[in-house]
Amino acid sequence: MKGYTDKPWSVGILFSQTGVTAIIEQSQLNGALLAIDEINEAGGIEGRPIDPVILDPQSEPARYRELAEQLLADPDINVIFGCYMSSSRKEVLPVVERHNGLLFYPTLYEGFEYSPNVIYGGAAPNQNSLPLAMYLMENYGSRFYFVGSDYIYPRESNRVMRNIVRQGGGEVVAEEYVDLNAGPEDFQAILEDIARVEPDVIFSTVVGTGTVNFYRAYHASGGDGRKRPIASLTTNEAEVAAMGPEAALGHITAAPYFRNLPGEANSVFLERYRAKFGEVRTVTSCCEAAYFQVHLFANALRLTGTTSADPLRRVLRGAEYEAPQGRIKIDPDNNHTYLQSRIARVTVDGEYRLEREATRPIKPDPYLAVPALNDWANAPIRKE
Ligand code: ACM
Repeated sequence: MKGYTDKPWSVGILFSQTGVTAIIEQSQLNGALLAIDEINEAGGIEGRPIDPVILDPQSEPARYRELAEQLLADPDINVIFGCYMSSSRKEVLPVVERHNGLLFYPTLYEGFEYSPNVIYGGAAPNQNSLPLAMYLMENYGSRFYFVGSDYIYPRESNRVMRNIVRQGGGEVVAEEYVDLNAGPEDFQAILEDIARVEPDVIFSTVVGTGTVNFYRAYHASGGDGRKRPIASLTTNEAEVAAMGPEAALGHITAAPYFRNLPGEANSVFLERYRAKFGEVRTVTSCCEAAYFQVHLFANALRLTGTTSADPLRRVLRGAEYEAPQGRIKIDPDNNHTYLQSRIARVTVDGEYRLEREATRPIKPDPYLAVPALNDWANAPIRKE
């Protein structure tokens, strides 16, 4: 039992700083560290600072499991912030369950999972795939070409997207996968096929450096995002910065948060991020989720005075926070999060411009218990 001492509150941090998903996970790491700084600068929790124990799993799912095991073997550590790829979360899941720890997972994912030992802070498919499919069918057409990295998230996310597209009267004309470490040449055959099949839209579940390689190869092959966009849930500001504005132009992302949103909470967040890291290029929806999850944890810890999972979980369920994206809330039904739902497209200067947003946070429905297309926000609004 962890009691009251003047020791810091140790928490584990498992975001990769090397390997195929380092770009996005570094952004998550920064988000978590910024929130920890803010909490510590304000006096910590009961006068004790939060101490992040940061390990680098190198984008290797098995390393996440080993390092989660190492962290939770420390009697002072019950809580981990971490994981981007669903393959790494699936490795960590049995470890946190066995230790009765708590994993804060700040990443969009494929849904169809629940653990009392995970707090899900990223979007489930009803909060991003569904509105994205509606938007694409209304604006581009109904013939979808799927391209993904070969692991659980793309395959499961495509299964969900295929159902949504079919429900909307659309068609999936192809579903192709590349290796997680795909280089530019690995997309050539797919790009030739896209040129032949002429889909209305490409839905990409490629992740990490593969994203940068795919968009660049598409651009080099004459692909034009303004005519036939690549739409994705896993491409955001950090990958756009890495690929450059020419390759990113016109492409579309659905996410709860974009860096250039208006609002006081976001400008304060960006100001502090810039002060700590010297730039805001790497601020993404996954970074923002890591940031608000640390604050949710700290607010819960203030109430419980212990990092034990059972009391924390009790106060986290239903907890709300004024995040940079707007007000969010942990759904007591399923440990996922009510999130904003937005669609944006990259302009010539490499910035996301909002195309559409829901009028209120969307309740997470990780099992798609309510699969109807028109269930997404009663009144989505289009931005000028
Ligand atoms: C993911 O693998 N959940 C992006």
